[in-house]
Amino acid sequence: MYRTHTNGELRLSDAGKTVTLCGWVQKNRRMGGMTFIDLRDRYGITQLVFNQEINAALCEQANALGREFVIQVKGEVTERSSKNNNILTGEIEIIVSELTILNSSETPPFTIEDNTDGGDDIRMKYRYLDLRRVAVRKNLELRHKMAFEVRRFLDEMGFLEVETPVLIGSTPEGARDFVVPSRMNAGEFYALPQSPQTLKQLLMVSGFDRYFQIVKCFRDEDLRADRQPEFTQIDCEMSFVEQEDILNIFEGMAKHLFKYIKNIDFIGDFPRMTWADAMKYYGSDKPDTRFEMKFVELKEAVSGRNFVVFDSAEYVGGICAEGCAAYTRKQIDELTEFVKRPQIGAKGLVYIKIEADGTPKSSVDKFYSAEDLQKIAALFNAKAGDLILILAGEKAKTQKALCELRLEMGSKLGLRKKDEFSPLWVVDFPLFEFDEETQRLYAMHHPFTSPKPEDIHLLDTAPATVRANAYDMVINGVELGGGSIRIHDSGLQNKMFELMGFTSEKAQAQFGFLMNAFKYGAPPHGGLAFGLDRLVSLFAGLDSIRDCIAFPKNNSGRDVMLDAPSPIDEEQLKELNIALTL
Ligand code: AMO
Repeated sequence: MYRTHTNGELRLSDAGKTVTLCGWVQKNRRMGGMTFIDLRDRYGITQLVFNQEINAALCEQANALGREFVIQVKGEVTERSSKNNNILTGEIEIIVSELTILNSSETPPFTIEDNTDGGDDIRMKYRYLDLRRVAVRKNLELRHKMAFEVRRFLDEMGFLEVETPVLIGSTPEGARDFVVPSRMNAGEFYALPQSPQTLKQLLMVSGFDRYFQIVKCFRDEDLRADRQPEFTQIDCEMSFVEQEDILNIFEGMAKHLFKYIKNIDFIGDFPRMTWADAMKYYGSDKPDTRFEMKFVELKEAVSGRNFVVFDSAEYVGGICAEGCAAYTRKQIDELTEFVKRPQIGAKGLVYIKIEADGTPKSSVDKFYSAEDLQKIAALFNAKAGDLILILAGEKAKTQKALCELRLEMGSKLGLRKKDEFSPLWVVDFPLFEFDEETQRLYAMHHPFTSPKPEDIHLLDTAPATVRANAYDMVINGVELGGGSIRIHDSGLQNKMFELMGFTSEKAQAQFGFLMNAFKYGAPPHGGLAFGLDRLVSLFAGLDSIRDCIAFPKNNSGRDVMLDAPSPIDEEQLKELNIALTL
C-alpha cells in the first residue's frame, strides 16, 4: 500500500498509530537539531518531524529534500507541542522512521502557495503546478460539487442526460463558428457547436421530453473575464411546457445549488423584471440588483433652460449616490474621466450636490435656479448629503454609460458584496434586434425563439416591437443562463426566417433538417442553458471564469501551456486539401 492515510486526515485521536503518507514537499525547515517538513496532497498538509539526535542519517536525507519532491514516509502519529489551528491536522505531527523519495523535482518556477510569487502568464504556462495551489484546487472541487448537484437535481426531476455530437454543422448563436476540416469529405468542414440548440430540439421531436447535458460549447468571439472560447453549459430542454414551467423548474435548480453548496435559503420567488424595465432603470439587460441606485429620466425636467447639452440630447438620465455630496473636486474629476473613457464614451458629467443644509449645488448652476435643482433632486428622492450624477446624449449609448457609472459607484460604495446574492429573471426580451449597418432584423436570442402570442399580429407591421417568450437568469449583474419557448410550428418558423431576410433556399440549406423534423409532430417545447463556468465563478467569488477551469485559454484564445493553436505540417494540410494563403 502506498499510503494508509491522506495528508488531511489524521487527528489527535490517531496519536500512537503507525501510518504511511505520500505527497509533495511544500516546505522544509530546520530548527536546532530538528527538521520539519510540510507534506502536501489534495487533502491537506501534515507536518513531518526528523530528529538529528535520534536518526542522524534519516535527518540528513530529509534535509536534502527540495520543494515539490514526491516522497513516502512511515512514522508514528504524535501530539504536537505547538499546535497550528490553521490546518485540520494541526494538532499532530509524524515522527518519521522511514523515508523514500518517489521522485525528485526541479525547483518550480513559482511558489506553490496561496500568495504565490508567480504572475498570470507563468502560472498559465505551468498550469499543472498552479493547480497544486489550494485556492485553485478549491475552485475545481466546487465545480465538481456543483455539477454533481445539478445532475442529482435534474435526475430527480426526471431529466435524461443525452450526449450530442461535437462535430456538427453551423449552429446560430450569434458568434463565429470554430470549424474542423473533413479529410474524408474534401473541401468540407464541420463546425463545433456554439450550443446543442438544434440537437436538443430534435430530441424533443424524438419524445425525450426532459433533456439535459453538461456540455462543452465553442464560440469564436472576443474574450472577456466571463467568456472563454470553449465553455460549459448546463443545457436543458422540455416538452409540453410553458415559460412559467421552465422558470419554476430552473429557479428550483438554482435554489437547490444555493442550499446544498452555500447553505443559503431563498424565501419566495426570484423577482422578475421585464427587459424594458431593466433597460429603463439600469441601462442593462443584466442589472446588478444588489443595490438600488435606479436611473431617473430627466429629459422633461431639464429641458427649456437654454442648456444646450441637455436640450439637444435624445436622453438625459441620472443616478443618486447616497451620502456622496462631500466628494471633492478631484473625486468628481475622476468620475468624469471614468465616463469619458473611450469604451464608455460619455462626453461629460453633470453633478448636483445636496449640501448638509439641503441646498443644491451643481456644475450647471448657471442654467438652473435653486428651485429647478430642488425639483430635479425630488425626482431622485435625494436628501441632504447625496450626490446626483447626470449624463446626456444618444439614448442607448448614454444608458450604457450610466450603467457603467452606476456599477462604478456601487463598487466605490461597497454595495457589490461578493457574499450577497441577488437573483432575478429578466423576461419579455424583444424578439429581434435591428442592425443599422446591414438594415436587417436579427434574432435577439436565436431564430427558433417564439414571439409572445399576443404580439404575433405585430410581426408584419412593427416587428421590432414584438416581444419574445425569452428569459435570462441574472445574479449580481451576471447573465448566468438564458432560454426561450421555441417555435414548433413550421409556418411561423418560416415567417421568422423571412423577416430575418433568409431566402427559403438559404433557410432550407441551413435549417432544413430541423424544419423537416418539425413536419413529423414536433411537441410544444422550450428550454434554457446555464453557463456552468459563470455559475461556479459566482459561487466562488472569482473575478474571472478562468480560475474555475482546469486548463483555460488566455485572452487571445491561446493555451499557453500546450502552445495551441499552432501550425500543422505540410503533409497534414495536403491530406485535408488545404492551402494556406497567409
Ligand atoms: P446563450 O447563448 O444565452 O444561450 O448561452 C447560455 C449561457 O451560456 C453562458 N455563456 C458563456 N459562458 C462562458 N463563455 C462564453 N463564451 C459564453 N457564452 C455563453 C452564459 C449564457 O447565459 N442555446 C441557448 C440556450 C437556450 O435557448 O436554451 C444558448 O446557448 O452563462
